[in-house]
Amino acid sequence: MDKTNEKILLEVTDLKQHFPMGGGFLQGPKRFVRAVDGISFRLHEGETLGLVGESGCGKSTTARTIAQIYQPTAGNITLEGRDLVKLTKKELMMARKDVQMVFQDPYASLNPRMTVFEIISEPMEIFSHRRIQPRTKVEIESRVLALMDHVGLSRAYRNRFPHEFSGGQRQRIGIARALALQPKLILADEPVSALDVSIQAQILNLLKDLQEEFKLTYLFIAHDLAVIQYISDRIAVMYLGRIVELTTAENLYRTPLHPYTQALLSAAPIPDPVVERQRQRIILTGDVPSPTVEHTGCYFYERCSKRMDRCQKEVPQLKTVQPDHETACFLYEK
Ligand SMILES: Nc1ncnc2c1ncn2[C@@H]1O[C@H](COP(=O)(O)OP(=O)(O)O)[C@@H](O)[C@H]1O
Ligand SMILES: [Mg+2]
Repeated sequence: MDKTNEKILLEVTDLKQHFPMGGGFLQGPKRFVRAVDGISFRLHEGETLGLVGESGCGKSTTARTIAQIYQPTAGNITLEGRDLVKLTKKELMMARKDVQMVFQDPYASLNPRMTVFEIISEPMEIFSHRRIQPRTKVEIESRVLALMDHVGLSRAYRNRFPHEFSGGQRQRIGIARALALQPKLILADEPVSALDVSIQAQILNLLKDLQEEFKLTYLFIAHDLAVIQYISDRIAVMYLGRIVELTTAENLYRTPLHPYTQALLSAAPIPDPVVERQRQRIILTGDVPSPTVEHTGCYFYERCSKRMDRCQKEVPQLKTVQPDHETACFLYEK
């Protein structure tokens, strides 16, 4: 579905998140983990942007920074025209309800001592004095029960505890809690990675249904290419804190442009046996460089089979090189 004509809900501009580590006084210069190192993208209302990349490339940090769990080192996060980075504490509190996260491990993220009802109602209780509906006990109760219906949890389970549920059901509880304040944007950080394959599809379909129903916009993080292709309208590929390619799900799988994306896709099995047999695997050589290194050239330089002189001296920026297709690679810059 083409959702690119829709209004822009979120715009991230040159976002950086550098975590200080060790160093300092008498220990040499202060060093930083450059978890997110200058990324820009837009999210259109109602779309799903997938964020894919190997473990440690900065996906979770991107989501957490957008959710304002951390202050960014640099950059802007604009939600419906308002820069979240510049809001006062009070304004930020209100903006936070529009952006909710769903986490990978629904067991670790749900308080084991709270019942399903308490878990889902808690965000509403917190906001109930802030002139936001629902406010009264009765209103909150009817909303919790409606949410349980929406995510496919029997109302009879309202007084049960997280440990009494399977992984998939627990993720349904996490999703209901995320929806409690009627957010606009959901940041889903590997929401199905911890689930059995048979359960993954159910949760992905639930997320799709809820998106239609509540006009939600998703930033969906996964390292599994099949999952990301199934759920995403567009996909951003991350490598070492940077976005190296951003395009429609279809373009990405048909004509990946960046050498890193090509390698990533070539390592994933394709269900079509004919295509699968004719394919060439691209084996990446070399290690992923440490995220503490400050790069003066392409971040993928060390491992790239198509590197050129220029790639060592200049950092390629994400640019539109084909219709609806951005990549950060000098191969496509003439
Ligand atoms: N709070 C933190 N403090 C220091 N380093 C961190 C912190 N969170 C993440 N990192 C580092 O930042 C990099 C990116 O991590 P993360 O965003 O979790 O990657 P991903 O979700 O893609 O696996 C990793 O090198 C990780 O060790
Ligand atoms: Mg992560």
